[in-house]
Amino acid sequence: MTKIGIIGTGMLGEAVGLHLLKSGYALSVFNRTKSKTENLVKNGATVVNSPMDIAKNSDLVITVVKDAASVKQVSFENDGILDGNHDGLVVADMSTVNPSSAKEISKKFQENGIDFVEIPVMGGPNVAIDGKLVLMASGNKDAYETHKNIFETIAHKNFFLGDSGAAHSIKLAMNLQISMLALALSEGITLTRKAGFEPEKFLEILNSTYFKTGMSENKAHNMIKNSFEPTFMLKNMTKDLGIINEAAKSFNADLPMAKLASKVYQDAVEDGFGEIDYTGILAYLKKISDN
Ligand SMILES: NC(=O)c1ccc[n+]([C@@H]2O[C@H](COP(=O)([O-])OP(=O)(O)OC[C@H]3O[C@@H](n4cnc5c(N)ncnc54)[C@H](OP(=O)(O)O)[C@@H]3O)[C@@H](O)[C@H]2O)c1
Repeated sequence: MTKIGIIGTGMLGEAVGLHLLKSGYALSVFNRTKSKTENLVKNGATVVNSPMDIAKNSDLVITVVKDAASVKQVSFENDGILDGNHDGLVVADMSTVNPSSAKEISKKFQENGIDFVEIPVMGGPNVAIDGKLVLMASGNKDAYETHKNIFETIAHKNFFLGDSGAAHSIKLAMNLQISMLALALSEGITLTRKAGFEPEKFLEILNSTYFKTGMSENKAHNMIKNSFEPTFMLKNMTKDLGIINEAAKSFNADLPMAKLASKVYQDAVEDGFGEIDYTGILAYLKKISDN
């Protein structure tokens, strides 16, 4: 059976790893902060000391780290993936990065004889734990086909989209939806509360219309209870809005709302709201509205 290694066992990497273990795969894991591998080890994973050791031990390495800088660090710096290169090694990056960074990372792996695919995903740890992510892939199609059964274990919908950079262009358009939905809901709830109505009524009416969403039907009920247990941290959504705006600039796309949203989320991070769920943008709006 294919040996898999995961580098980055934060919220998403841990859930993907637990699901792969449950599905019967042999898994080795590395995380910069070792304590975050404990749950995986309890469930049968082997912990190793460096990204190089992950590469040596694996046929397929999946990186799930914060951003492009951290992907480059675990890939190309001392004791990184390149140092553990061997015949047949495939690297798949699940982190959300700029399409231009994805192309750069892909090129460097290919130049070093390592097949590389980008596999950004939609959905958080809450669905990853059951293999219910939606996966967008691009880059080396042969490498994607070789490990398609694993990508289909991780995600219940898989889309191969073309050359390197393609998957992240779509992924960024997806995160634009999520950031705007969370803001629109939060502003609606804030307006309703300030007008003296219970937000439950706002949600009941919204969810009776064509304009309801998965977020208004599900997460919104936690939001109005002030429950922001993170599945995707607000600081990471802010990171993605930064990438969305950089990518928009490079594609000559003018996205006025993305620029505004980026500022609102950035202000929330600076005000101490970064470590809660991104839907905690509601708590930030409450704070600035009550001032
Ligand atoms: N959560 C989601 O719903 C979701 C969905 C789709 C995509 N994503 C993307 O998946 C990636 C991980 O997200 P997450 O939610 O799991 O975030 P997270 O819980 O904050 O985990 C971030 C991970 O990146 C590692 N990391 C950060 N900087 C690093 C560096 N310089 N070198 C090595 N490792 C580094 C962290 O290691 P330490 O523990 O040592 O800090 C941790 O393992 C991000 O790119 C995110 O945008 C997340």
